Amino acid sequence: MQHVRKKITVVGAGFVGSTCAHWAAAKELGDVFLVDINDGAAKGKALDLFEASPVEGFDSKVTGTADYKDTAGSDVVIITAGLPRKPGMSRDDLLATNAKIMKSVCEGVKEYSPNAVVIVVSNPLDAMAFVAKNVLGFPRERVIGMAGILDGARFRSFIAEEANVSVKDVQAFVLGGHGDTMVPMPRHCSIGGVPLTEMLSQDRIDALVDRTRKGGAEIVGLLKTGSAYYAPSASAVQMAEAILKDQKRILPCAAYLQGEYGVNDLFLGVLCKLGGKGMEEVVEIQLNETEKAGLQNSINAVNDLVAALEKLDY
Ligand code: NAI
Ligand code: 2OP
Repeated sequence: MQHVRKKITVVGAGFVGSTCAHWAAAKELGDVFLVDINDGAAKGKALDLFEASPVEGFDSKVTGTADYKDTAGSDVVIITAGLPRKPGMSRDDLLATNAKIMKSVCEGVKEYSPNAVVIVVSNPLDAMAFVAKNVLGFPRERVIGMAGILDGARFRSFIAEEANVSVKDVQAFVLGGHGDTMVPMPRHCSIGGVPLTEMLSQDRIDALVDRTRKGGAEIVGLLKTGSAYYAPSASAVQMAEAILKDQKRILPCAAYLQGEYGVNDLFLGVLCKLGGKGMEEVVEIQLNETEKAGLQNSINAVNDLVAALEKLDY
């Protein structure tokens, strides 16, 4: 039977991947295929989620598999496969391990879903997106990294809490790499259309910017045995939805830059237009001197990461 519904593949059935499958199925974005080398985990979680569908009333079939053949012809692929950093593991060890995983995943995706739009979530994000783009050989429209929506959502939650307003009325975004050097953009934040700088003192804004930069570490510190997954998966699925429904949303994503902000051949968090073709446009904005310096610092950090990656055998 020809697949009429949209087809979404999520690779990695761990915390982020299975929660992506949950959000995508609950939103009825299409049928969901959950892939993991641990096929029991993929099959068990997929079946459990499918069995929730009569209760929640969603018409999305959820299938678990370890075989990319089952994912053939996917419209969107979200890649969350990868190991977290373990005690005693250096950043380069993690980089090498996850690059190997990313390579093997992308070989499967390339063979069976050559027309998919691929959303990379695995860390270190900007480097893993770089590996994915190289292995897939897809145009930059179809390989996008998820980080900015998550970092922006953290910033928006903290602003809403501080100002005691609805999260729905807070607009904010973050540019740059997904790491300590990310660049939250308070000058472009607003509450109900009013600039944040008119609503909160500079001291409070600085504290929220700092908390946003450390947002991932704050969750790791609390969980102790893993990292965040609800907000990351909601963010990845927002990207998938924008693509599957051709929404033309303007969202911060890691895009492969080709001249924008003076950067070439590097993934960096920037504002993008997401629609049916994937990353349809990089929306380049004017930066002041402080923002330029912050972004340059972040570009240097991503450059170092990619240089370390290129020295490794994966
Ligand atoms: P997890 O450990 O719960 O899940 C990872 C899964 O990947 C495991 O089920 C494992 O079996 C699977 N896997 C390993 N090698 C594989 C392969 N070759 N093929 C298919 N599956 C494979 O980890 P979690 O919490 O789900 O995080 C996943 C990744 O996402 C990590 O690298 C994490 O750092 C990253 N992450 C990135 C965020 C971002 O903003 N970009 C936010 C949150 C997490
Ligand atoms: C986060 O920011 C671990 O990248 C992940 O939560």
